[in-house]
Amino acid sequence: MRLDGKVSLITGAGSGIGRATANCFAQEGAIVVAVDVNADAAQATEEAIEMAGGQCLGLGADVSDEEQVIGAIAATVKNFGRLDILFNNAGISVIKPITETTEADLDKLLGVNLKGVFFGCKHGIVQMLTQGGGIIINTASELGIVGQPLYSGYSATKGGVLALTRTLAAEWSAQNIRINAICPGPTDTPMIRAEFNLSDDPVAEEKAAVSTIPAGHLGKPEDIARVALFLATSDADFVHGAAIVADGGKTIR
Ligand SMILES: NC(=O)c1ccc[n+]([C@@H]2O[C@H](COP(=O)([O-])OP(=O)(O)OC[C@H]3O[C@@H](n4cnc5c(N)ncnc54)[C@H](O)[C@@H]3O)[C@@H](O)[C@H]2O)c1
Repeated sequence: MRLDGKVSLITGAGSGIGRATANCFAQEGAIVVAVDVNADAAQATEEAIEMAGGQCLGLGADVSDEEQVIGAIAATVKNFGRLDILFNNAGISVIKPITETTEADLDKLLGVNLKGVFFGCKHGIVQMLTQGGGIIINTASELGIVGQPLYSGYSATKGGVLALTRTLAAEWSAQNIRINAICPGPTDTPMIRAEFNLSDDPVAEEKAAVSTIPAGHLGKPEDIARVALFLATSDADFVHGAAIVADGGKTIR
C-alpha cells in the first residue's frame, strides 16, 4: 500500500473531497485524523473507515480558529507520534455579486478558506520541522486561476491559497517539507449541490455548469482524492509549489 503507516490529517473530512480523500488514504494504509467543524460528520468518517478495516480518529475542530488547529495537530502527534501528511482542504463558498457581499460574508470566507489553510501550514510546518520533514497539500480551486461571476470573495481566498502555497514551498522545500495545491473544478459534493440549489432551477444550473467542462461531467470527489494521493506519495517527490488542476478541462478554454 502506498501510504503504509503514514500519519495524515485531513480537514473538511466529514464530507465531499475531504471524506473521499480520508477513505482513499486509509485504503492505502495511512492512519487518518479526520477533522471537521461538524464533529458528528468527522465521527461518521471515522466509523466508516474503521468498519472498512482502516485506522481513523475523527475530531471536531474549526480551522478558522488557530487554537483549534494547534489542538488538532497536537492530538494527532499525541495519538500517533508524528504528522507525515497534512491536507488543508476545509472550505466554504459564498455566491453573490460583490455588491451584495457583506463584510461578515468576507470574514467567514477568509477565516475558513485562507486563514484556515494558513494556520494549518504554520503549525504543520512547526511539527514537521521536529521530525525531519513532511508533506502539505492545500485545496485551492480553479477559481483561484480563472474568473467566474458571483465568486469574488471565494476566488480571492483561493488565489490567496495558491500564492501562499508557492511562497511556503520556496521557504521550506529545503527543509524536506513538500507543499503543493490542488485546483479542483466543479466536483459533485454537497457544496456544489447547495450552490445549484440556490437557483430556482437546480437542474438547469447543473446543466449550465457541466456545459463549461470539456470532459462533459462534474468531477467526483474520488477524482480529487487520487490527485491528493499522488501528491502524498514519493511519486511526487520533485513536485514543489505546484497548483495541480483537476477540472475536466474547464480552465483550458
Ligand atoms: N466541490 C467543488 O466543486 C469544489 C471545486 C473547487 C474547490 N473546492 C474546494 O474543495 C474543498 C472541499 O469542498 P467540498 O466540495 O468537498 O465541500 P463540502 O461542503 O462537501 O465539504 C467541506 C467540509 O468542510 C467542513 N468545514 C467547513 N468549514 C469548516 C471549518 N471552519 N473547519 C473545519 N471544517 C470545516 C464542512 O463541515 C464540510 O464537511 C473546499 O476547500 C472547496 O472550496 C470544491
